[in-house]
Amino acid sequence: MKKIILTGDRPTGPLHLGHYVGSLKNRVALQNADDYDEMYVFIADTQALTDNFKNPKKVHDNVIEVMLDYLSVGLDPEKVTFFIQSKIPELCELTMYYMNLVTLSRLERNPTVKQELKEKDFKTSIPVGFLTYPVSQTADITAFEATIVPVGEDQLPMLEQAREIVRSFNNIYGKTLVEPEALIPDSAVCRRLPGTDGKAKMSKSLGNCIYLKDDSKTVMKKVMSMYTDPKHLKITDPGNTKDNPVFIYLEALATEEHFQKYLPNYKNLTELKNHYERGGLGDVVIKMFLYNVIEDVLNPIRQRRHYYEDNLELVYKYLYEGTKKAESKAAETLAKVKKAMLIDYKNIF
Ligand code: TRP
Repeated sequence: MKKIILTGDRPTGPLHLGHYVGSLKNRVALQNADDYDEMYVFIADTQALTDNFKNPKKVHDNVIEVMLDYLSVGLDPEKVTFFIQSKIPELCELTMYYMNLVTLSRLERNPTVKQELKEKDFKTSIPVGFLTYPVSQTADITAFEATIVPVGEDQLPMLEQAREIVRSFNNIYGKTLVEPEALIPDSAVCRRLPGTDGKAKMSKSLGNCIYLKDDSKTVMKKVMSMYTDPKHLKITDPGNTKDNPVFIYLEALATEEHFQKYLPNYKNLTELKNHYERGGLGDVVIKMFLYNVIEDVLNPIRQRRHYYEDNLELVYKYLYEGTKKAESKAAETLAKVKKAMLIDYKNIF
């Protein structure tokens, strides 16, 4: 079986460090391992509209932001096919046929959708488009016969739902679709990076993100005002490293080389943590270290971003060509689906 990697993001804002450690870094590693047949990374504007339908400008403007983030982290248009979801009408058509294979109660049980419904406060006026976005996501995945879907942990219920739809389709109409598998980071800290305020998740609406496009001054400000251990008042106080986002970020990002370069008195994070927990280590030292680590991660990303910001016509070209290529693949799958469902009417058309 072919190895086909596919993933995407909703263009609702620029991508942040949580996206980076939770998924983007994984994607670049997969790309560079070169052990796959096809790789697709796409901008899920149709899906973004399911909860931003009153805000078309936000979605529109963030399409290019997200594409710039993709190129900045090192995704390579020579290796990856980039596309814009709404430009592939085959995806809507597939969604329509898959709708028959999922019940309303199953959609309402999807834990991620449930959580989002709570946050969005739709109350009893839930838009049908929003509730059914996992079906449309199944179309995104199956149209490209994706076998591996690198995503954040919150997307596991979507993959589960996609697999159910695939099985149901194949049972009824004969084996046509490929069952995908999710790929999430091995490390638990990378799976869900907390916000700079210590809240469970980085989220644009909470204003607790460090964006990949933030400049050095902004990063410095954000790191210096990060939540740490509120009981660690004096340097001599013993500190808590467990629910402390500064240490969680370091766990996700700091390497032994970073210690050698910026904090050579400590060999690794365990030694640094031990000192903080014993007492005698101030927050500013650790925040300064974190700032340097983040800057090391962001500098090459910023450089690539500047290049592409100055060469936007290249960025448009990648999207244009990628979308065309992706559409022809989606059309092939749609043809197989229609044949299996006996709606290709070959003798007439
Ligand atoms: N749900 C993803 C997000 O919220 C975006 C997405 C849409 C996606 N379709 C997908 C991810 C298919 C992986 C595969 O960002």
